[in-house]
Amino acid sequence: MSQYSCLKVETKGSRLTITINRPDALNALNETVLEEIESALLEDFDANTHRVVIIEGAGEKAFVAGADIAEMKEMNSEDAHQFAELGQSIGRIIGTLPAVVIAKVRGFALGGGCELAMSCDLVVAAKSAKFGQPEVNLGLIAGFGGTQRLVSRVGIHVALDMLLTGRGRILNADEAHMVGLTSRVVDDDKLDSEIDKIVDALNKTGPMAVTETKRLVRDAQHMSLDAGLAAEASAFALCFSRDESKEGIDAFLAKRNPKFNQ
Ligand code: COA
Repeated sequence: MSQYSCLKVETKGSRLTITINRPDALNALNETVLEEIESALLEDFDANTHRVVIIEGAGEKAFVAGADIAEMKEMNSEDAHQFAELGQSIGRIIGTLPAVVIAKVRGFALGGGCELAMSCDLVVAAKSAKFGQPEVNLGLIAGFGGTQRLVSRVGIHVALDMLLTGRGRILNADEAHMVGLTSRVVDDDKLDSEIDKIVDALNKTGPMAVTETKRLVRDAQHMSLDAGLAAEASAFALCFSRDESKEGIDAFLAKRNPKFNQ
């Protein structure tokens, strides 16, 4: 496992946990944090070991309170362009990673934190979570995918409300859940056990079936329905040429637990 200055990265069974570790700055995303997340996803992630990646923020107060405002003060347009591309690249990597990526959100998920969370496959939030895109209050706009992804998560009117009114529309966990920005919301003291439940559930599934499902759902965001349905039928057919589906079906019919290659 690589050494990082702003992250803690740990493997436990099938899970890789990436903890953004700048609690004094509410885990704000500076260039180093972004580079380190990118490198953890590309270099510490091992498709043969990890089925789940969990991204979380250190401390009780924040998942991530946004891009690092102090660092942005020193940026010119060229720096800012590179910074946005770096932040965006993390969303792209998460979307194509052959594992389920979970944002574990406690406290503030603002700006880049909200964008990082919405890039993940599942967003599991504690009741203390707060989601928002307050960039406009700094005279900025969202730069890590917020103007593009938020609409598909919450619909155009909530997305525009959050992106245009900034601090005027911070969603609490229940509101975020109501509009579809989270997968699950639990009490803060149940967040760890809820994540464990999800990992246990995923460990009982066929790994290739899960990876294929993620790919199809992700691709559907930028495909016609007909092209997506054709891709689904092909992928469904491919399942039948694999030992994984044979084992899953045989196990069900024999009333035993399947033994998938993990
Ligand atoms: N970038 C850099 N530092 C940040 C930060 C950010 N996005 N968000 C918080 N911090 C730092 C604060 O400067 C403060 O540091 P200090 O103790 O050295 O002064 C520390 O984290 C704690 O934040 P503080 O503002 O004192 O906590 P709070 O509970 O009063 O307020 C927030 C919490 C999240 C409401 C507030 O920190 C905030 O508005 N942050 C910026 C959110 C934002 O605009 N994000 C989008 C950026 S593009």
